[in-house]
Amino acid sequence: MRKQQNFKWNTLSLGTCYYPEHWDESLWKEDLKRMLAHGIQTIRIGEFAWSKVEPREGEFTFEFFDRFLEVAAQTEIKVIFGTPTATPPAWLTNAYPEVLNCRMDGVKFRHGMRRHYNYNSPIYQKFCKRIVEKFGEHYAKHPSVIGWQIDNEINCEVDEFYSESDTLAFREFLKEKYKTLDALNQAWGAVFWNQEYTHWEEIYVPRTTIHNSTNPHQTLDYIRFVSDSAVRFCKMQSDILRKYVKPGDFITTNGMFQNLDNHRMTDEALDVYTYDSYPNFAYCLCEDPKHSKNLNDRRWSDKLTEVRSICPHFGIMEQQSGANGWNTRMEAPAPKPGQMMLWAMQSIAHGADYVSFFRWRTCTFGTEIYWHGILDYDNRDNRKLAEVKRIYDRVQAIQETAGAENQAAVAVVKDYSNIWDAKVDVWHQRLAWSSEEEIFLASQVNHTPMDYVYLLDSTEVEELTRYRVLIYPHGLILSERKAALLKAYVEEGGCLILGARTGQKDENGKCVMMPMPGLLAEVTGSDVREFTFVGPADDKVNMNWNGILLDTGIFNDILEPIGSNAKVLAEYAGNYYKGQPALIENPYGNGKVLHFGGTFTQENVKALLEYVGVLKPYCDILELPKDCEITAKEKEGRTYIFVLNYVEEPQEIFIKRAVKDMDTKEQVQGKICLGAYETKVYEL
Ligand code: GLA
Repeated sequence: MRKQQNFKWNTLSLGTCYYPEHWDESLWKEDLKRMLAHGIQTIRIGEFAWSKVEPREGEFTFEFFDRFLEVAAQTEIKVIFGTPTATPPAWLTNAYPEVLNCRMDGVKFRHGMRRHYNYNSPIYQKFCKRIVEKFGEHYAKHPSVIGWQIDNEINCEVDEFYSESDTLAFREFLKEKYKTLDALNQAWGAVFWNQEYTHWEEIYVPRTTIHNSTNPHQTLDYIRFVSDSAVRFCKMQSDILRKYVKPGDFITTNGMFQNLDNHRMTDEALDVYTYDSYPNFAYCLCEDPKHSKNLNDRRWSDKLTEVRSICPHFGIMEQQSGANGWNTRMEAPAPKPGQMMLWAMQSIAHGADYVSFFRWRTCTFGTEIYWHGILDYDNRDNRKLAEVKRIYDRVQAIQETAGAENQAAVAVVKDYSNIWDAKVDVWHQRLAWSSEEEIFLASQVNHTPMDYVYLLDSTEVEELTRYRVLIYPHGLILSERKAALLKAYVEEGGCLILGARTGQKDENGKCVMMPMPGLLAEVTGSDVREFTFVGPADDKVNMNWNGILLDTGIFNDILEPIGSNAKVLAEYAGNYYKGQPALIENPYGNGKVLHFGGTFTQENVKALLEYVGVLKPYCDILELPKDCEITAKEKEGRTYIFVLNYVEEPQEIFIKRAVKDMDTKEQVQGKICLGAYETKVYEL
């Protein structure tokens, strides 16, 4: 069973990110008082301010933040203090260049940005331990301090590490894991292309190769190693802070980034997880062309759902409050009137109890001059500040929803081996990313709240049986343990939906020599005879499910029933395998499995969820247009429904029986119109 989170906010509250070192001290008091006047009661400070405390190696001075904390105490603002390890100072990187991270070809990243360090340098660890100790020892006892943020956005900007220290640490990680080179050579299939190692010193973190194609099994272990390094780095800091943190105060870090087991990091090092939410990246002018435009800012609900799986009651450490951009990258527009409220409510609707806006005022210098805060450079009151106050008032009206549990009948199953294998293996990636997107879209447009649930070392079947339906889209990598958990889930009455390529690989990412779905075949009562990508020339391949044609996506496993009770629900209606099974249902224990040979699309997910009886769970209470999202939360027997309009156009919803509007406290029913970006909270 996963560890319960140690810390929960017991009320909904607002904060902002403040950088005392960016402003003249004469502004501090006025700033903090103005925050309070607009409903902001907490600030985060200090996370890049190493040289304010250690301006030269070994010289410590605490006066700067002492003076600031005095102002915080006078104004009664609460403070989350950051450890400053995301930005080692110039004196450090210059004297000890081995602390720097490197590109894959070994060239060092130089001073001038942030997160330029590597986690494994013993020298960097030594300096970090000392500065964290100094911060904790000196500031944690201050009555205004209520919590700690470790580093800043671990694995943001760079999530690959290729320094000398990383290679040395990678070897130790591998020795611990495999004990012998024989075992490592076996696990990595090193006989392929003469990669067999005869000395540990021959092994490196992946290095530049032709096409940058590295051994996939090695790279999978390398990602595990990066994650392990990041978690250990975070834990190293929290172990120190623990000695000083006052009872009731918390340790967090702000995520959520890649090549990182965020669940393990939370369980081992944190009391609560926080997330940085920037929904306006959806409108970024220079964004990654691979980034989906589907649903725009509403897509952040997918990320928030993921955060909820890490920590059900989380905080938002940075909630967008202005246009975004650095001088070198990213150009996203300002939130339109109402969107700050919408995005804050989106966070709350998905499980956040603390929302902190980034940042109080836009910096007038440095790389982030276009990363706008609530206030602009001119420091005048503006419509964003007024909106913060409205958010505060709104939050008071829905205070009783604080700490409520999000509700979902269906969850998508994930695990880190498959997430990371999908980064290494483009075949896997194409399936995994496409299905994840389509399932999310299907759940959104069909108003069917969903969760993510991770199969972790600590996961027990009770964490799965909370859901009536689980979708494990493409569990290519199966292990005995994961298969046993899923089997137990079905035995206890759960309904498991599996997609193409389930059971293709082992934990090393090597293909297994057994018919798919491998370790789950007993539960599915089915087998995979053959498989293929749906090529561009094939257009699309439908399946015929009771006379209804449904697209089977981009990859097709051609199935065969093998269990005596296995029933073919749908057959492929095209390509060379026309008439062959595409979807098989098998009863098992008290539950059942639907083995689907394709990848998921909005339409087939809708049909599957309808078939298993979890589509639109609130349709008896309210009808919504497609541009509105619904989430549900429960607390002490009461259910709260959040409805969010993501578009400028007014949206009409229809409430079928009287419910309480949490803002007006009145019973409402019938047609209700939500204006531009408007949100509603109802108690059933
Ligand atoms: C992240 C960081 C912040 C700030 C913003 C804008 O979210 O945590 O420090 O840099 O990005 O770039």
